Amino acid sequence: MLELFLIGIGTGNPDHITREAEKAIRQADLILLPHKEDNKAELAQVRMTLLQHLCMDSSRIAHFDMPVRRQQGDDYDQQVNEWHDAIAERWRACLSTHLPAGHGHESGHERGRVALLVWGDPALYDSTLRIASRLGLAKSQVKVVPGITSMQVLCSAHGIALNDIGAPFLVTTGRQLREAAWPAGVDTLVVMLDGQCSYEQVAEPDVDIFWGAYLGMPQQILMQGRLVQVKADISARRQQARQQHGWIMDIYLLRRRS
Ligand SMILES: C[S@@+](CC[C@H](N)C(=O)[O-])C[C@H]1O[C@@H](n2cnc3c(N)ncnc32)[C@H](O)[C@@H]1O
Repeated sequence: MLELFLIGIGTGNPDHITREAEKAIRQADLILLPHKEDNKAELAQVRMTLLQHLCMDSSRIAHFDMPVRRQQGDDYDQQVNEWHDAIAERWRACLSTHLPAGHGHESGHERGRVALLVWGDPALYDSTLRIASRLGLAKSQVKVVPGITSMQVLCSAHGIALNDIGAPFLVTTGRQLREAAWPAGVDTLVVMLDGQCSYEQVAEPDVDIFWGAYLGMPQQILMQGRLVQVKADISARRQQARQQHGWIMDIYLLRRRS
């Protein structure tokens, strides 16, 4: 039987890998490792270093090129669907190339434990579960191993609590922050997937920002302060770091002052 393990690996610090994740990685017959056609080679290297740290034998690693998402047109959902179909196809190709087949050696009936390493936690702003659902596996064949999210590492790095006492918080994206107003009934927002410094557009005067980039990695950067006072500095630092490394991953928490 084929078993697919979607393993949360945290934000890039090998010390953030849970014992459960480590065990699932060590027991995998095959690890699928994506490579992107952008300048995120440093990021791919973080995963490789992690596997080396766990003494993974390279013969158990199948590298595949990530398809590129079509970006023309305003049919965003359709673009994402096509892209996920294409990724699932690459996974299928890796499985049939690298795993033994059962059921009279038919393709589509491979056997073994396959692992995918997911940044942070697979449940938080990640599509790996949605892509896995395209493989037609039974629910019992797909196992999720939780990981430490970038949101948790942001809070621990700044030494702050995620929520005020008894209060809710909202996790959202840069696009949502730009396109929708600050939602009613919530004073704390955690913003992910923001390539456009959307915090710059928040007009409220009494908001604090806690910002972090490359969390859990040696190049980690933290900045915080009153949004109106620090936003320009954060954007400048962000741009400089992006140029220096060729890529950036950042996340921030915005909180209304009480
Ligand atoms: C596709 S989402 C994946 C989130 C991930 N599943 C998690 O649990 O953190 C990618 C976004 O997560 C955030 N992120 C992930 N890793 C990060 C890191 N090491 N430092 C800062 N932000 C990170 C960024 O906002 C990035 O745009």
